[in-house]
Amino acid sequence: MFYELTIALRTIRQEGFKPLLEKISLYFRQLGWGLQFLNLPLPHGKPPEEVLHFCFDTAGDLIGPSQIHSEILALARLVKERKPKVVVEIGTAKGGTLCILCCVAEPTATVISIDLPGGVHGGGYPRWRSIIYRRFAQPKQSLHLLRLDSHLTSTLDQLKAVLPAGGIDLLFLDGDHTYAGVKQDFEMYSPLVRRGGLVVFHDICVHPPEYNCQVDEYWQEVRKQYKSWEYVENPKQGMYGIGVVELA
Ligand SMILES: C[S@@+](CC[C@H](N)C(=O)[O-])C[C@H]1O[C@@H](n2cnc3c(N)ncnc32)[C@H](O)[C@@H]1O
Repeated sequence: MFYELTIALRTIRQEGFKPLLEKISLYFRQLGWGLQFLNLPLPHGKPPEEVLHFCFDTAGDLIGPSQIHSEILALARLVKERKPKVVVEIGTAKGGTLCILCCVAEPTATVISIDLPGGVHGGGYPRWRSIIYRRFAQPKQSLHLLRLDSHLTSTLDQLKAVLPAGGIDLLFLDGDHTYAGVKQDFEMYSPLVRRGGLVVFHDICVHPPEYNCQVDEYWQEVRKQYKSWEYVENPKQGMYGIGVVELA
């Protein structure tokens, strides 16, 4: 209940009582959707289109990804093609991209997702959601959920403790979106990515200042140093956008 209490107090402080009541109502509706989710068959190993239909539509109220459909579809197709055995995500939130990654990664993959409870750009997730997220894993996959700050060396140590030999095949960065935050994530975790492995950046488009998102600035620096490409539906969309670098 510590997470719930912290978020409630923060909401009262920053937004007031009415938004708190709305959040409480949503919280209980999510618990209901969570119970229904426990009976849904997962689209493990299905084509990316079917996986996205599940995550955006069938279970969208509970786990809807914070993504543009065409962009994450392009990424899901790439992941399916590359058959990653080790996937690390920073920024679990509602679990949308985690579900997609589990469904399209190798059936024996190790998947690790890190999120800071109360973190910026999303706020993390309450503990009970881990029960939902554990269902994302295919029967022979191992899934590790670290509710921790990606910027702490102790988190890096915990990740290394469960990381299989050979390194990371796919690193998906969607946590702290400030310039310093995304830079630190890249500098701390990309040395663990194997040669030929991929680092994916979310939110590479220029965002309005109130979003406090500067991934675009760091992306422009990093993309020049590696083989890189982008999945952006519309260059003028003003948010989202996916960038990929392949490490040499
Ligand atoms: C935009 S959301 C992730 C959305 C998710 N990948 C999706 O599309 O389904 C960003 C998440 O990053 C988390 N976050 C922010 N700073 C973090 C940090 N330093 N360490 C770990 N997670 C962090 C937030 O708590 C939030 O839940």
